[in-house]
Amino acid sequence: MIAVLPSGGLPEGGRAVVVAGGREIAVVRVEGRVYAVGNSCPHRGGPLGKGDLSGHHLYCPLHAWCFDVRNGLGFFPPGARIATHLTEERDGQIFVDPVAQPLANDFEPPGP
Ligand code: FES
Repeated sequence: MIAVLPSGGLPEGGRAVVVAGGREIAVVRVEGRVYAVGNSCPHRGGPLGKGDLSGHHLYCPLHAWCFDVRNGLGFFPPGARIATHLTEERDGQIFVDPVAQPLANDFEPPGP
């Protein structure tokens, strides 16, 4: 786990992009919990950490693909997947595991 951000830097509903282990990772806070996902959208590389958050759904700012930050599963389109990372919050710091969790399924682009 790598310390990436002070807890106060991520308010409820907040998003931030951090770098851990050389990877860009988007961190968000929903209902008090911190979640971390790969920052790059599998569609065309949009910066997910700059997207809108609605509950646990994170929308890519480029073409609005949408992912559940809890498990990386695509809400739209349903076949899409993003990497998730373990997080921990203690002593006023947010920590992220730079190694992504295995994808729930192999990513298969849903079509052009
Ligand atoms: S790059 Fe994310 S939806 Fe297109």
